[in-house]
Amino acid sequence: METLQAIRTRRSIRKFTSRPVPQELITKIVEAAMYAPSARDTQPWHFIIVNRREILDEIPKVPPYAEMVYQAPLCILVCGDNQLERKGKYLTINCAAATQNLLLAAHDLGLGAVWLGVYPRRERMEGLSKLLQLPENILPISLIALGYPDEKVSPPERFKQERLHFNKW
Ligand SMILES: Cc1cc2nc3c(=O)[nH]c(=O)nc-3n(C[C@H](O)[C@H](O)[C@H](O)COP(=O)(O)O)c2cc1C
Repeated sequence: METLQAIRTRRSIRKFTSRPVPQELITKIVEAAMYAPSARDTQPWHFIIVNRREILDEIPKVPPYAEMVYQAPLCILVCGDNQLERKGKYLTINCAAATQNLLLAAHDLGLGAVWLGVYPRRERMEGLSKLLQLPENILPISLIALGYPDEKVSPPERFKQERLHFNKW
């Protein structure tokens, strides 16, 4: 898919078929995430791929608004490593850039995905850290539910001329 087309047509998908996502596609998606920009090129991310049903079924008990995970064949938790980015100031922003790459790659490959907010909600971060046994230095930032889409969501018009400011406010 052409880049601008992928950006314009990506939507959050919350209904999935039960078809498993092949490992080859998972690798491509995570690889795309790893090509995101990061401050001082620290690339301070890790990705936890969750595809075991019994673990997936525990996830919606932690963050709210995550019921679609009961149906999703796959989740990817994007985590920031505060040993790889010691000052930590851009850790979450770097991981957000990786998350957006991940969503666009999933869309390009014909998958559907939705970003589920984790950081900065302390109870979600603690719950997922415990469930997925994260070490102390690893912060869970965003959770993506993925799978083959079982719904079609059309792209809205989002361009707003009034949000543009040339040279000064
Ligand atoms: C930081 C963040 C947190 C989000 N958390 C949730 C969530 O908990 N549950 C959910 O269903 N969607 C969540 N979303 C998806 C948004 O609802 C969605 O991106 C927004 O409505 C725009 O729709 P679109 O993704 O189809 O363009 C989140 C998105 C972001 C960026």
